[in-house]
Amino acid sequence: QMKVTKICCIGAGYVGGPTMAVIAKKNPNITVTVVDVNQDRIDAWNNADVNNLPIYEPGLAQIVKETRGKNLFFSTEIDKTIDESEMIFISVNTPTKTYGKGKGMAADLKYVELCARNIAKVATTNKIVVEKSTLPVRTAQAIKSILDNTGSDVKFSILSNPEFLAEGTAIQDLINPDRVLIGGEFEDAIEVLANIYASWVPQDKILRTNVWSSELSKLTANAFLAQRISSINAISELCEKTEANVNEVAKAIGMDSRIGPKFLKASVGFGGSCFQKDILNLVYIARSYNLHEVADYWEQVTLFNDHQKRRFADHIVNTLYNTVSGKKIGFLGWAFKKDTNDTRESAAIYVADYLLNEQASISVYDPKVPAKKMQSDLNYLNTRSVSENEQQVTVFSNPYEALKDTHAVAILTEWDEFKSYDWNKIYVNMKKPAFIFDGRNLLDKTEMIKIGFEYSSIGQ
Ligand code: NAI
Repeated sequence: QMKVTKICCIGAGYVGGPTMAVIAKKNPNITVTVVDVNQDRIDAWNNADVNNLPIYEPGLAQIVKETRGKNLFFSTEIDKTIDESEMIFISVNTPTKTYGKGKGMAADLKYVELCARNIAKVATTNKIVVEKSTLPVRTAQAIKSILDNTGSDVKFSILSNPEFLAEGTAIQDLINPDRVLIGGEFEDAIEVLANIYASWVPQDKILRTNVWSSELSKLTANAFLAQRISSINAISELCEKTEANVNEVAKAIGMDSRIGPKFLKASVGFGGSCFQKDILNLVYIARSYNLHEVADYWEQVTLFNDHQKRRFADHIVNTLYNTVSGKKIGFLGWAFKKDTNDTRESAAIYVADYLLNEQASISVYDPKVPAKKMQSDLNYLNTRSVSENEQQVTVFSNPYEALKDTHAVAILTEWDEFKSYDWNKIYVNMKKPAFIFDGRNLLDKTEMIKIGFEYSSIGQ
C-alpha cells in the first residue's frame, strides 16, 4: 500500500486550516502543508502570535502552536507543494453562483475546477485527490475527467471525504467525530486515507461508501440539520399566537428518542456559509433532474428561514411604536453563532439591513468580529452607500458603551458572555421603556422583567 508522507491541502479557510491542524497533530510523521492563493490569509496563519490567526476556534491556537513549523506549514507555493505531496485535499470555497445559469442556486465550482487543472498541470507522480469541499453529487466525475486528460501517465485516484465539523466546535468535532465518511471507487485509495484518520478515529466510525453516496450525504446532512431549525422556528411562530412556549414544546418532543433533543433551539434563524448554500444546491440538483416536488420540499427550509429573520426585524419595528427612524438599536452579536468569528450569512446582517432601511441607527458589540468585517458585510448587500453604512452603524469594543442610550437591545448571537452582563447597569443607561429582543432565547425572562425591561424572545 502507498504510504503518505506529505499532504497538501488547497484552501486555508475554516475547513482546511482546522482540519489539517488536527491531521498534523495526530500524524507527526506526515508533513502537512496548507496552501492558498490568498497571501494575507497565509501570512495570518504564519503570524507569530497564535492568538491572531485568521480563524477563531476554541482550541485551534494551541494545536497550531504545537505543530506549526514541525509538520504543519502554511504557504503560497501551490505548484511545488502539490507535486511534492502524495495526497492532495481540495478544500476551497464552493459558494452559490452569483452569475449565469443557476445564479442564486447552484454551487459555483470554478475554484474546484481551477484546483483540478492546477493539479493536472503540475503533478509528475501519482496522487490521491480528496474532495474535502462540499460538492454537488457527481462532481468527482468532472474532476476525474480533467485529471485523466493531461496527456501524461500520472495516475490519479479521487476520493470524496466531506467535512462534518461545525464552526465554534471545529476542534472538538475533528478530534472526536461522530463519523468520518470516505467515498471512493478503489479500496486501496480509500484505505490510504482511512489509515490517516485511524491514527485517532476508531475504525467503526470510519464509513466507506461509493463516491456519489458520500457527496450526497454531505448535502443531505446539512439539509436535515437546517430543516430541524426551520421546523422548530415554524412552531415558535405558532407558540407566540397561542401562549404555548417553544422551549417547553422542544423539551417535550426532544425526549422522544425518535426525535432527539439536539438542534431544536428556536432562534432568529440560521446563518453560516453552509446551510443555505447547500440546500439551494440540493434544490438546484433536484430541479435539474426534473424532481420538482423534491426541490419544493427542501426549498421551503430556506424560505422559512428568510421569513424568520424578517419576522424578528418586523417585530422590533412594530413594538417600538411602528417606527425606528432615528432610534438607536444596540446589537449584541454579529457572528452567525457563538465561538466563531465567521459572519457569512449571519442573521445579524439581514436584521441590520432591514432596520437600516427603516432609518434606525445601530450600535454593535461582538466579542470576535472586527468592525471592518461588519461594515463589509453590509456593503456587500449593496443596499446603501458605504458612507451611509458607516454613518448609521457604529461598532464598539465594550458592550456597555454599545448599549448606552439605546431604545432597544437585540440579541443576535448566543455568546455565553452576554448572560453574565450586569443587566441592571445596562437598563439604567438605556432609554425608557427599555426593550430587549432576544433572538436566541438567551436571557432569563423573569429576571429581565424584574429589572424593568420590556422583554420579548422567540416563541414564548
Ligand atoms: P473559506 O472561504 O474559508 O476557504 C476557502 C479558501 O480557499 C480561501 O482562503 C481561498 O482563498 C482558497 N482558494 C480558493 N480557490 C483557490 C485556488 N484555486 N487555489 C488555492 N486556494 C484557493 O471556505 P471554508 O468555509 O473553509 O469552506 C471550504 C469548503 O468546505 C466549502 O465547500 C464548504 O462548503 C465546505 N465546508 C465548510 C464548513 C464550514 O463550517 N465552513 C463545514 C463543512 C464543509
